[in-house]
Amino acid sequence: MRQDSDEKRGPNHVAIIMDGNGRWAQQRGRPRLFGHHAGMRRVREILSACPGNDVKYLTLFAFSTENWKRTQTEVAGLMMMFRRYIVREARALLENGVRVRFIGDRIRLDDKLVTLMDELELLTADNDLIHLTIALNYGGRDEVTRAAKRLAYEIEMGRLTHKDVDAETLARFLDTHVLPDPDLVIRTSGEARISNFLLWQSAYAEYEFVDTLWPDFTEAEFGRVLAKFGQRERRFGAVLA
Ligand code: FPP
Repeated sequence: MRQDSDEKRGPNHVAIIMDGNGRWAQQRGRPRLFGHHAGMRRVREILSACPGNDVKYLTLFAFSTENWKRTQTEVAGLMMMFRRYIVREARALLENGVRVRFIGDRIRLDDKLVTLMDELELLTADNDLIHLTIALNYGGRDEVTRAAKRLAYEIEMGRLTHKDVDAETLARFLDTHVLPDPDLVIRTSGEARISNFLLWQSAYAEYEFVDTLWPDFTEAEFGRVLAKFGQRERRFGAVLA
């Protein structure tokens, strides 16, 4: 079965592993956080390029369950950056038709940040032009494990039985349950790894690994990657006639 119709060749849902901020800063002799701030500016540019490119869903890997292993300075700096992003961008996101969602486990995030995340989700809940999903304290295995735990709880409570467990039911318990699967996953900075990002959801996604460091990833390069996707033939496991 083909999902992309002839009228729409570009990806509907693009997910990005924004890698290379640290190296970008290092190349300039600056602290890693300098690179993350530059990366943040790129987020604005790529998000604003989505409507013109017919990308309805954009999902960004901002902080992984493994990123806590970084220095306390870097982790604290990133958390402050996320808080500032929400406070500063809320109005523009609302006015530009962006619906924001966060995925990942909120339990380890500080209360102030979680409150801001909840407020931004609520504030933009009626928007429908672009669906921006930010993965914060996100890990694919962690997400599937949490989903399995919740499913097991439903069974324990007698609301489901083991016979109800199939891929569709499990997917209903994932953080991404309201989102379509990504069509295209982009990773910047030359690393060809998935790094625990959207493991379940990317089963049939196309991958594009580009050498550019995230702070240098321009709207023009984004456009080129999208165009390349449009030339690919997606089979979803089937043989095309
Ligand atoms: C990976 O580069 C990047 C991160 C862990 C942080 C990404 C966050 C942003 C770009 C800000 C986005 C913010 C929002 C709100 C969406 P790295 O530090 O691993 O780079 P390196 O591999 O060169 O060290």
